[in-house]
Amino acid sequence: MSTWISLRDLLVDTKEAEAAPTLSSTLSAEYSEKELEASLGKEVNSADSLFDLQQKEECTIPIEERPSETMEKESDEASEKFSDFMVFEKSKFTEKSLHSQDENISKEEEEVSESLEKPSPSLETEDVKSTDKGKTSLESSHRESPNIPKEICLDSVGKGESSKLEEEKESTDKPGKPKKTARVQSNESVSDNASVVQMSLKPCPSVGSSLENFELNSLLHAIRSVDSHPGSAENGAMMEEAWERLQKSYVYYKGKPVGTLAAMDPIAEALNYNQVFIRDFVPSGLACLMRPATAGGEPEIVKNFLLKTLHLQGWEKRIDNFTLGEGVMPASFKVLYDTHRQKETLVADFGGSAIGRVAPVDSGFWWIILLRSYTKCTHDYTLSEMPEVQRGMKLILNLCLSDGFDTFPTLLCADGCSMIDRRMGIYGYPIEIQALFYFALRCSRQMLKPERDGKELIERIDKRIAALSFHIQKYYWLDFTQLNNIYRYKTEEYSHTAVNKFNVIPESIPDWLFDFMPLRGGYLIGNVSPARMDFRWFLVGNCIAILSSLATPAQASAIMDLIEERWEDLIGEMPLKIVYPALEGHEWRIITGFDPKNTRWSYHNGGSWPALIWLLTAACIKTGRPQIAKRAIELVEHRLSKDGWPEYYDGKAGRYVGKQARKYQTWSISGYLVAKMMIENPANLPIISLEEDKRIAKPKLTRSISF
Ligand code: GLC
Repeated sequence: MSTWISLRDLLVDTKEAEAAPTLSSTLSAEYSEKELEASLGKEVNSADSLFDLQQKEECTIPIEERPSETMEKESDEASEKFSDFMVFEKSKFTEKSLHSQDENISKEEEEVSESLEKPSPSLETEDVKSTDKGKTSLESSHRESPNIPKEICLDSVGKGESSKLEEEKESTDKPGKPKKTARVQSNESVSDNASVVQMSLKPCPSVGSSLENFELNSLLHAIRSVDSHPGSAENGAMMEEAWERLQKSYVYYKGKPVGTLAAMDPIAEALNYNQVFIRDFVPSGLACLMRPATAGGEPEIVKNFLLKTLHLQGWEKRIDNFTLGEGVMPASFKVLYDTHRQKETLVADFGGSAIGRVAPVDSGFWWIILLRSYTKCTHDYTLSEMPEVQRGMKLILNLCLSDGFDTFPTLLCADGCSMIDRRMGIYGYPIEIQALFYFALRCSRQMLKPERDGKELIERIDKRIAALSFHIQKYYWLDFTQLNNIYRYKTEEYSHTAVNKFNVIPESIPDWLFDFMPLRGGYLIGNVSPARMDFRWFLVGNCIAILSSLATPAQASAIMDLIEERWEDLIGEMPLKIVYPALEGHEWRIITGFDPKNTRWSYHNGGSWPALIWLLTAACIKTGRPQIAKRAIELVEHRLSKDGWPEYYDGKAGRYVGKQARKYQTWSISGYLVAKMMIENPANLPIISLEEDKRIAKPKLTRSISF
C-alpha cells in the first residue's frame, strides 16, 4: 500500500500529472488512495474486459492451428493545385475502434465509481497475480532472478564468483554502465517441426518468461520506480530552454502553426533542414500533445500538421515521366512566400528532390501513428472520422496492401526510404519499415470506419497483421540460441520442411556478431530476405516493435536485456546508436557507395542520435525498465544543451559532435522533451503505445527434440 502513497505523492508533485490526459487525468491531488487504485485498475481492466467481450463475439483460429501451411533542394514552381504463409478463411476484427474503446471505458467508469469504496476485485486479483508473476517476469529480466538455478547462473565471460563480483562492482562504479551478469535458463518449448532433428540451444533466458499483464505491470512498475531526478534545477532550465527553442521552430501557414523546422542552425548551410519533415515532426507533435494544457500544450499544431500534410498527399507526384502512387506522403514540405502572387505557397518533396530520389515509405506510417496519438490524447474523434482523413488513411494502406508477387508479408523497400535516407544497405525488408507498417496497420484498425469499402480493407488489414507479426517474430528474432541454430544451418534444403527457409549460408554470419551476442538478451535483426540476413542492430525498428507490440512481451524484455548487456556499444557516452556496428573498409565502399557522410561511426553509419531518446524511453516504460531510460537521459543531460542540441554525434562511444551535424536540431530538442515528460509521467505512454493483442497467434520457437 505504501507504494500507492508514494505513487500518488509522486504524481501529485508533478504538474504534468494534474493535467495530462487519459490515466493521469484520474490522478489529481484530491483523490484518495483507494480512488487512485480503483482508477488505475479501471483504466487497465477496461481494456481487459473489452478484450474478453470481443473474444466472446469472435472465434479466432490461431495461425498455428491452421490445417496446413498452404502456404531538396527547393522546387521553383510551387502550386497547391499540384496541388510458410498462412491462409485465412475469414478475417477477424481483432481490434476495437478507439472511439468504442472510449465508450466502453466510460461505461466501466460508472461501474468502477460504484465500487470505489471496495477495493477493486479485478485490480486486486490481477495485481496480486501480476506482482507474483511480475517477480518472475519483470525481475527475471533484471539481474538477480530467484528462478535461475545456481549452477546455470553464469557471468558472461565464464569467470568465477569473485571475478563476477568484481566485474559487477566495476560496472556499477561506472555511471551509466549496467552490471554484466548473464544467465542461462532452462525453458522448455515445443518444436514446431518435430520431424526435424536439429541441434538447437535453449532459448535466451528472457524469452520464455511469462509476461502476462505486460502493459499493466510495466506501467505500474515504471510509475513506482520513478524517483526524483538529481540535478533537477539544472534540468528544469534545460526543459525551459527546450520548450523555447521548440516554439521558435514553428512554421506558420496562413497564420496557423503547421509544423516545426528540422533545424535552426545559424551557421551551417540550410540545404533541406529548413523544411518540416514528417518523421521529425513526430516527437515535436508528441511533445505538444503530452504537455498539459495548463503549461501551454498545443494539440492544435498536430491537427493542423495532419490536415496540411493530408492536403499535400493529394498532389500529383511526378518524378521525370513517372507518377508516384496516390497515397504517398511527402518526406518534407516548406512554406514559401510568393511575392508575385502575394501569397504563401507550399512546396513538398516526395523524394524527387531527396538524395537518391527515394520516396519516404515511413512518412505515411508516421502520419497514421500520429493521427492515432492525437485522437487518443485529445479524444477528438472528429478529425479521424472526417471522410478526407479516412480516405487519406486508405490511400496509404492501399499502397502497401495491394497484391503482387510477394511471398512475404513484409514490405519490399528501396535503400534510403526511411530515417536512414541515404544508401546504407537497408534495401529489401528493413525492420524499421516493417515495424512502422505493423504499427500503422494496428492504428488504422482502430480508426477506420467499416462503411462502404472500409470493411473489406479492415479484413485485409487483419490478415496482414497476423501474417506480419508471425513472420517478424519468427524470422527476424535473434538471440544466442537462434544464432547458434543459424550457425549450424544446413543449406540447399528444399520444400516446406526446410528449417533454413531462406537458404542463409552460415558463413555469411559476420565475425563481430559472435562476440556481440550476449547469453542474456536478443533483438530483431535488420533485414531478412533470400540468402540474406542483415544482422545489424537498428534502434528504431526494435523500439517501434516494442511500442506496437509487434515484439512479444518476452522478446521486448530481451531487447531491453540486450541494451543493458551491450550498454557501451548501443548507448555509449551519448545515446543512441542508430545502427550497430558501423560499416568499415571494403564493406563501407561496397554498401554505401563510398559515402563520405556515412563514414564509419558517423551519421547513419553508427552515429549516435539523441533524437531517438524518446523512443527508447517509451520502450523502457512499456517493458517496466524505466531505470534504463533514466540512465540514458542523464547522459543526454550532461551534454546536449551545452553542445547546442546537435543532430548526431560521431565515434564509437558517440563522444564527438557529428562532423556535419546541424546544431539546434529540432527533433533532438523535442525528443528530449518527450522522454522527460514520459519518465516523469508514465501515464503518457498509451499516447504512443499499443497493448498486445493476445489473439494474434505467436509462432512457437523452433527447438530440437534431441536436446
Ligand atoms: C537527415 C536524416 C533524416 C531527417 C532529416 C531532417 O536527412 O537522415 O532522417 O529526417 O535529416 O532532420
